[in-house]
Amino acid sequence: MEDRLFIFDTTLRDGEQVPGCQLNTVEKIQVAKQLELLGVDIIEAGFPVSSPGDFNSVVEISKAVTWPTICALTRAVEKDIDVAVEALKYAKHKRIHTGIGTSDYHIKYKFNSTQDEIIQRGVAAVKYARRFVDDVEFYAEDAGRTDNEFLARVVEAVIKAGATVVNIPDTTGYCLPDEYGAKIRYLMEHVDCIDKAIISTHCHNDLGMATANTIAGVQNGARQVEVTINGIGERAGNTSLEEVAMIIKCHSTIPVSTNINTTKIYSTSRLVSSLMNMPVQPNKAIVGRNAFAHSSGIHQDGVLKNTQTYEIIDPKDVGIDENSIVLTARSGRAALKHRLQVLGINIDDSRLDKVYDAFLRLADQKKEITDDDVMMLAGADRSANHNVKLAYLQVTSGLGVRPVASIGLNIAGELFEAASTGNGPVDAAIKALKQIIRRQMTLKEFTIQAISKGSDDVGKVHMQVEYDNQVFYGFGANTDIIAASVEAYIDCINKFHH
Ligand code: KIV
Ligand code: ZN
Repeated sequence: MEDRLFIFDTTLRDGEQVPGCQLNTVEKIQVAKQLELLGVDIIEAGFPVSSPGDFNSVVEISKAVTWPTICALTRAVEKDIDVAVEALKYAKHKRIHTGIGTSDYHIKYKFNSTQDEIIQRGVAAVKYARRFVDDVEFYAEDAGRTDNEFLARVVEAVIKAGATVVNIPDTTGYCLPDEYGAKIRYLMEHVDCIDKAIISTHCHNDLGMATANTIAGVQNGARQVEVTINGIGERAGNTSLEEVAMIIKCHSTIPVSTNINTTKIYSTSRLVSSLMNMPVQPNKAIVGRNAFAHSSGIHQDGVLKNTQTYEIIDPKDVGIDENSIVLTARSGRAALKHRLQVLGINIDDSRLDKVYDAFLRLADQKKEITDDDVMMLAGADRSANHNVKLAYLQVTSGLGVRPVASIGLNIAGELFEAASTGNGPVDAAIKALKQIIRRQMTLKEFTIQAISKGSDDVGKVHMQVEYDNQVFYGFGANTDIIAASVEAYIDCINKFHH
């Protein structure tokens, strides 16, 4: 019989550490419920001691979901564990995830400590956590760069202290797949009581090897994988859930099975992307817009004759319904509600009314409303309680004329106006905007998402603006790309202008 591979989702903890992608508690509950539907075994809901918001989210997620174990992160510090215990009060199944850095870099530079002292601190934290919960996971931070012999001593000590799961993070994304696989194998073969705990992978993607390393870990004995939806996470991100789930489904030579309902993958991906304003790269494996799009004539011909010629995954298996009903101006509320549900968004009737009005306005401007548009519309009223709002924007540009923009901003109910020229219409509009918001802001990144279906499509703009040494993310969507850019800039401003 195949072994069970436990899926530990950390979208709401490691994934949410991405600057600018923070979710509020209501949004986190929405994601957690979707993860439950997807069939994940463990949801890492947050790091409760880090902020009251994180604490509250762990409390509310614990109340909202039933089947998955809810996990809270801590350092190997009693105070952290006390706060995590309190946050997990309502969880039906609970786990504390505690740990400490084990590589020489961490021991010397972060803790100014010794190997023996690190083991003692790890053991003490596990024993302390076991006083409150039966399920305690220990992480050996930077295990990827920790010497295997010492790592085995750590793992053995924490299992003897009561750890039920031991996490071997490649925190910096440094390992090669055979090196990481060999590390897991070494632990399986050299730790005395290894059968008393589950070994977990936790790989980062700095060198693009997170999924390969995770699979190497599984092939060598790991039975839990720590993953995020769309592979989001700090820097280059974490191992992506959808990739691991589909690799396990496609390769029967890997003798494990998961509880993932793969047909929920696409909707979960889109929900996370939309709530976090984090676009999915078009060529992203499994969930990217182009993942199943065959454009070359030879491929199209082959796929039409037999899909298996060029496709190893049936798009329906990940929940992509190519025959989905296209929404147009004639679609009713029920069709919109259904589409939102398919995409993992459940909204009440009063919110549906608002989204439907926005839907009709958009359908007047473009013929077919895509899933991305629907997701965008459902998130659009997030700007409703913005302090700074766009009142109007007028831009003149063209060849042989100097672009000029006039802008009106409504700030806390008062209208402010300015005009400027620029080297292009967006530049002119942003210069005018900056005349009103007199702060030292620098535009760091500006991404216009590819227009997928035609010249009438909605342009989606993602921006990063630096202010006061911090980077703020913003999002705008509009059939007018200049308006979308200004909206994205204003979204950034609202993150620090109160
Ligand atoms: O990458 C890492 O080491 C982590 C730990 C805190 C588990 O996220
Ligand atoms: Zn991590």
